[in-house]
Amino acid sequence: MLNEVVELLNIKAGASIIDATLNGGGHTEEILEKYPDVKVLGIEWDPDIVENLKLKIKNGKSDNFRERLIIINDSYVDLRAVVEKYNFQPDGIIFDLGLSSWHYEKSGRGFSFMRDEPLDMRFNPNETVKTAADILNTAPEVELEEIIRLYGEEDFAEDIAKRIVTARKSKPIVGTQDLVAVIMDSVPGWYKKRKIHPATKTFQALRVAVNGELDNVEKGVIAAIEVLKLGGRLVVISFQGLEDKIVREIFKNKSKTGEVKWVKKGTIKPKWEEVKRNPRARSAKMKVIEKL
Ligand SMILES: C[S@@+](CC[C@H](N)C(=O)[O-])C[C@H]1O[C@@H](n2cnc3c(N)ncnc32)[C@H](O)[C@@H]1O
Repeated sequence: MLNEVVELLNIKAGASIIDATLNGGGHTEEILEKYPDVKVLGIEWDPDIVENLKLKIKNGKSDNFRERLIIINDSYVDLRAVVEKYNFQPDGIIFDLGLSSWHYEKSGRGFSFMRDEPLDMRFNPNETVKTAADILNTAPEVELEEIIRLYGEEDFAEDIAKRIVTARKSKPIVGTQDLVAVIMDSVPGWYKKRKIHPATKTFQALRVAVNGELDNVEKGVIAAIEVLKLGGRLVVISFQGLEDKIVREIFKNKSKTGEVKWVKKGTIKPKWEEVKRNPRARSAKMKVIEKL
């Protein structure tokens, strides 16, 4: 979707673009390489990803590339303040929501049920919010059930929440494999034979709760529409139905009030060739609006 994203931003000469979810800079790099006079301000919440990216750029990229990229370690929720501070009013903004493969594979923060790591799950470990282990060991059963049902859309939320509360009475749940064992004890046999791992939805739910992801998406997308220049474009890619619903509602409401118009009505799905190359793209949903 890389080409499509960049095309949909409709980038003009000298434009200023915000990449609200910078990560390793895939989208940003494509933009900077394709448009030699365009500037990008990239926002990334995870301080480790920011450090890695700065190192990569320091060692690899030309001065021209460096001079056209501002890297900010912050949450896109603070978009308004960032735009003001850097006097960077954007012609285009891109959000590529969720987490990166680095989080699963390298962060060591318990995002993956395939590994044995402490259950942290914060995108930014400097934030003094509850970790996944804090929630699992202190939240009342009804709250756990609600988190797992609402954010994970897990049918066995009630059984899993009940089992968590029983398990933590004898031993705190601190590692990913502690939680996987509890989930395996809570769900029926047929559920364990399906393609999707029984822990997938509970892990997703905890991550969304720890990072306040749905709240962030709502605040970030609304702020993005506010800071965009007139005629500027906003592209949002989500991989999760709940996020996509929030984005759809905001775009629908703002197009009714005449603040924005759809560039392409509804959702743009990845092309078949891309899904073949990159299975993650299968669940990608992209939406694009233009500010009026
Ligand atoms: C799917 S990745 C983006 C991939 C990126 N477009 C690329 O091409 O490499 C999502 C990124 O958003 C970051 N992120 C999540 N919540 C954020 C927030 N509230 N503010 C800023 N970045 C956030 C994650 O840490 C992750 O690196």
